[in-house]
Amino acid sequence: MEELIPIASKLQDVLGALGQNTSLDLPQIVVIGGQSSGKSSVLESIVGRSFLPRGTGIVTRRPLILQLFNTAEGKDEFDDEEEDDERKSDHNVSTRRKQRDRTGSFNEDHEEWGEFLHHPGRRYTDFTSIRDEIQRDTDRLSGRSKGVSSQPIHLKIYSPKVLTLTMVDLPGLTKVAVEGQPEDIADQIWDMNVEFGSNPNAILLAVTGANTDLASSDALKLARELDPRGERTIGVLTKLDLMDPGTDAAEILGNKVIPLRRGYVAVVNRGQRDIDADLSIRNGLRNEERFFRTHPVYSRDRSIAGKCGTMNLARNLNGILIHHIRDCLPELKIRIANMMGDVQEELDALGEEGGGDEMGALGGKLLGLLSKFTANFAAMIDGKASNTN
Ligand code: GDP
Ligand code: NA
Ligand code: MG
Repeated sequence: MEELIPIASKLQDVLGALGQNTSLDLPQIVVIGGQSSGKSSVLESIVGRSFLPRGTGIVTRRPLILQLFNTAEGKDEFDDEEEDDERKSDHNVSTRRKQRDRTGSFNEDHEEWGEFLHHPGRRYTDFTSIRDEIQRDTDRLSGRSKGVSSQPIHLKIYSPKVLTLTMVDLPGLTKVAVEGQPEDIADQIWDMNVEFGSNPNAILLAVTGANTDLASSDALKLARELDPRGERTIGVLTKLDLMDPGTDAAEILGNKVIPLRRGYVAVVNRGQRDIDADLSIRNGLRNEERFFRTHPVYSRDRSIAGKCGTMNLARNLNGILIHHIRDCLPELKIRIANMMGDVQEELDALGEEGGGDEMGALGGKLLGLLSKFTANFAAMIDGKASNTN
C-alpha cells in the first residue's frame, strides 16, 4: 500500500480542511474464506504489522473492524511550528529517549498506536498488547471456548505508515460444529460473512489455501453469491509453500481454472512454526520473496511472477483504490474550487477590516494547501493511475 499513502493522505488532508461531510470514502477491504485459510495472516501482511490473533482452528471469533488512520496527514503544511517547538524542548527529547529505552526497538517514538472502541482514550503502543486485548475481548463476548459472536470489535490504528482505510477480519467459514460449538455455527458464521461482504463498497479478498481444492472453496462460493459479476473480488491463494511436491498453482493464476474478473494473487504467509517462533513480518515477507523468486514455475515468466507475492497483492489493491479515487476526482475538484473561492473572499474581507492576523495566517495556509492540490495533485493521480494499469 506504500506508494498510495502519500497521495491518499494528502487528499484526505485537503478533504479534512474542507469539512467533516467530505471524505474520500475509500472501499473497505473484507477478507472472506474458510477457517484457517490464512485470512488474518493476509490482512496483517497488507498492514505490515503483527497484531491479529492467528492460528489453527477457530481463532477469529468475532468480526474485527480495523480502521487505519494515517497520522502523517498535513504534517508539512500545518504542524511545522509545533514540530520545531518539540525539537527545541530538551524535556521532550529526554522523555522520548526514556520511552525508547523501555520499549526497545519497536515503535520507538510511540508514533504508532491502537485504540479500542471498548477502551476509549487508552493508547496501545505495543502491538502484542493489541493482540492480547483482541483475544481478551473475544473471550469476554463469545466465551473462552469455540463460540462466535457477531458483535464486532472496533480497533483503530494510528500510524504514519498506513493508508487511511477500513479492513474487516471475519471468522472463517466452516462446515460442521466441533465439540463446544452450537449446532448452527456454520450458518452463524456464513451470515456474518454475508453481512460484511455484501457492502457494495467492500473489496472482497476471497482467500483459499492452495493446498486445498479450488472447486470446493468456500471463499469463491460466497464471493460468487455476493459479487456475481466479479467486480470487487480478488482471489487470494495462500499456502503455496504447502502444496504437494510436483504440483503448482500456475493454471489457477493463469485464470484457467475458476476464472475471476480481477484474477488471483498467490502469497506465502508465515506458517504456524514462524508464528510460534515470533518471526517478524519483515522476515516473513523476505522469505516469501525468496520462495517465489527461486521457484522454477513462479519465476518462469513475468505474467506469473506478477501475480505472486504480498507486494503484488498490495499493488493490485492500490490499482483498485486509485481507480476509485480517480472516479471521485471531478466532484472533488469542483468542491475544492468553490472552497478556494470562499477562502479568498474571507481573506479579502479580513484584509479590509485590518484585523485578524492569526485568522489571516491560517487562511493563507489553507489557501496555499488548496492551490497546491489543484496544481499538482490531479496530475499526480492521473500519472499514478496509468502506471498501475
Ligand atoms: P484464518 O483462520 O483464515 O484467519 O487463518 P490464519 O491467518 O489464522 O492462519 C491459519 C494458520 O495457517 C496459521 O497457523 C498460519 O500460520 C497458517 N498459514 C496461513 N497462511 C499460510 C501460508 O501461506 N503458508 C503456511 N505455511 N502457513 C500459513
Ligand atoms: Na484459524
Ligand atoms: Mg482469522
